[in-house]
Amino acid sequence: MKALILVGGFGTRLRPLTLTLPKPLVEFGNKPMIEHQIAALAEAGVTDIVLAVNYRPEIMTKELEKFEEQFGVNIEFSLEPEPLGTAGPLKLAEKTLRKDNSPILVLNSDVICDYPFKKLIEFHKSHGGEGTIIVTKVEEPSKYGVVVHKAGHSSCIDRFVEKPVEFVGNRINAGIYILNPSVIDRIELRPTSIETEVFPAMCNDEQLHSFDLEGYWMDVGQPKDFLSGTCLYLQSLNKKNPKLLVPSTEPFVYGGNVMVHPTAKIGNNCRIGPNVTIGPNVVVGDGVRIQRSVVLKGSKIKDHAWVKSTIVGWNSTIGRWARLENVTVLGDDVTIRDEIYVNGGSILPHKEIKANIDSPSIIM
Ligand code: GDD
Ligand code: MG
Repeated sequence: MKALILVGGFGTRLRPLTLTLPKPLVEFGNKPMIEHQIAALAEAGVTDIVLAVNYRPEIMTKELEKFEEQFGVNIEFSLEPEPLGTAGPLKLAEKTLRKDNSPILVLNSDVICDYPFKKLIEFHKSHGGEGTIIVTKVEEPSKYGVVVHKAGHSSCIDRFVEKPVEFVGNRINAGIYILNPSVIDRIELRPTSIETEVFPAMCNDEQLHSFDLEGYWMDVGQPKDFLSGTCLYLQSLNKKNPKLLVPSTEPFVYGGNVMVHPTAKIGNNCRIGPNVTIGPNVVVGDGVRIQRSVVLKGSKIKDHAWVKSTIVGWNSTIGRWARLENVTVLGDDVTIRDEIYVNGGSILPHKEIKANIDSPSIIM
């Protein structure tokens, strides 16, 4: 089977992290985001994966060659001369995607869940329509694509409304599809949106079905959601694979769901958790409090710092007694001086912060 991952462009909403690494390589749960998807695709029997990109694929090629070997899949880049939207990339990669006549899995690169690919494939084959999209329920549907069904129990989608202004329902497109190769016939080689052009046409022809997702789901393409997604992912690991988390008998673990890379060092009398991931070679001093945060590779958090709802980018340093909170995001190699307070700061790579940031702002 084949899959296409819509990797896209600059990942502007996940800045300042994406100023250093393309979005799919930013570590989520201590692994590049895209590794979670590739692992799940390989597990479901996918052999060929196309990455649809419109921006500097060379940064990704090395990392992805590793995954080809590790997961036994072929990975190819499909480079768009101009951004082709969410449907155009299917047409551009047509040659690979039509290689055999099997259906094609399509994924947005920023969605995380327990990818139910095997069940999805089975369900798709059972109804005989051209496409199936995974749907999940959310409380705030306006920033997603919403699906509406006819009365009754059919899985056939009646209407697909992208980013509805008025409430039409709360079952949304989770950004994961399986499509017959015939769907490519519906797409022209130009910038095209699968959500506003292709899905509505498939609904009209009664060819688009929904598959309900079980468990957690999140689009982690923005810092606030990246942190919420981390909480959901760790909670799910706690149930399914607790070996990947630090046992709660460890004195520094507070409230559970803490993931610490084996190469990281944690000082004495720390209180870490709930919902924290700590990456490779991170050094945490004594008496540090961290909750609901992601600390990326090579960072240093000095004694008695207090860190909440923060993403600490790679190789950054947080000074003694510093206090960070409210979706603060540090880019690569940021320094926060001792005793500094940061409230919702988004700090670009290589900056040194010497004065308090009292309200949410971008520091360039
Ligand atoms: N290759 C390529 N080219 N990829 C693109 C392009 C493009 O021109 N434009 C966007 N993408 C990729 C993005 O990188 C992302 O992986 C995916 O397509 C969806 O784009 P987003 O910009 O993240 O869209 P969204 O989050 O606002 O909405 C989409 O996802 C929601 C679920 O998270 C839609 O599919 C919604 O219907 C859906 O509910
Ligand atoms: Mg998105």
